Amino acid sequence: MRTIDNFDFRGKRALIRVDYNVPLDDQFNITDTNRIDATIPTIEKILNDGGSVILMSHLGRPKGGPEDKFSLKHLVPYLSKKLNREVKFADDCIGESAVSMAASLKPGEVLLLENLRFYKEEEKGIDSFAQKLSRLGDVYVNDAFGTAHRNHASTAVIAQFFPDAKMFGYVMANEIIAIDKILKEGKRPFTAILGGAKVSGKIEIINHLMDKVDNLLIGGGMMFTFIKAMGGEVGSSIVEDDLLELAKNTVEGAKMLGVNLYLPPDAVIADAFSNDANIKTTSAYDIPVPWMGLDIGPVTCQKFKAVIEKSASILWNGPMGVFEMNQYEAGTKFVAEAVAEATKNGAFSVIGGGDSVSAINKYGLADQVSYVSTGGGAMLEYIEGKVLPGIKAIMD
Ligand code: 3PG
Ligand code: MG
Repeated sequence: MRTIDNFDFRGKRALIRVDYNVPLDDQFNITDTNRIDATIPTIEKILNDGGSVILMSHLGRPKGGPEDKFSLKHLVPYLSKKLNREVKFADDCIGESAVSMAASLKPGEVLLLENLRFYKEEEKGIDSFAQKLSRLGDVYVNDAFGTAHRNHASTAVIAQFFPDAKMFGYVMANEIIAIDKILKEGKRPFTAILGGAKVSGKIEIINHLMDKVDNLLIGGGMMFTFIKAMGGEVGSSIVEDDLLELAKNTVEGAKMLGVNLYLPPDAVIADAFSNDANIKTTSAYDIPVPWMGLDIGPVTCQKFKAVIEKSASILWNGPMGVFEMNQYEAGTKFVAEAVAEATKNGAFSVIGGGDSVSAINKYGLADQVSYVSTGGGAMLEYIEGKVLPGIKAIMD
């Protein structure tokens, strides 16, 4: 793997693609800094070598052209504090000012560029735009795992302009190592915990994981598609009716492969999708309209815990319920604690996907699991076995 470890950055300007697509509140405070924090070791290694750093990222999905709410300038104060030095800001990612600011960087200095997606050329992967960006640095470092599944100008196309000077930063390298460790040499028993609202986003992963795992725990909104497929009454719970057949096949496929697929026996149900709704705990297979399941129930928690605590490898993607509302957070919190406990007892655990990462942070357990991925979609696609353009461009 070509990483920054084998490179001396003295006197070099490193152009680093990071994924600073972080959530901001109304006052532009960063509400989850995980993705920024993860890149600090990469930046510091380069600065300590005597190099300078140019950071580039997207933020959100601007519609074409600059929008204040998507400006990366909102990140400057936090980044300056984290790096303990002034971070300069170029209010255009290409053009004369970016060129001259980048050219005049001295060793130890850091420049952040404005949102790459203010140019439609970024997402279209236009060569000439990638080439303009490439002129800002001597070395290209890709440390944007969260965006590695995008074939964009700054994530993949640009690599061709650095045939002998392109490499992975520590975030990228660590993500690849952690996910490979669990997928390729995962110690058994290997348990995958999948949740989140939708089956559609997860079915490919389930099928890809099926021949690797011993246990598959299914929670979150997606459980109701499975439960309905198995003949349960799910009331007003979220269901993807077009995937019932697929869900049924998945359950049968698991049986054939000897994979223990666990569906929740009970659920916390509510009479409205609201934190103020009336709630009760019932069988997940017998929910009357207009009630809906919004979390796994206590029996499920104990059952999942028993499986998790005997696991040697754990992969968790997707919350068990609507944990953002405190009436429905018990299942997610319980699973987070069980994963942390198993990790303490020697299991290797990887958590990925924006919501599960928010959850593990919410419960203060991020440092009690083996690895927290900065990738949502990218991690899922990597687990599915897809070749990610951002990885391929460095390897080629
Ligand atoms: C993400 O948060 O999923 C990544 O930053 C990629 O963003 P995108 O889904 O808008 O391409
Ligand atoms: Mg995304």
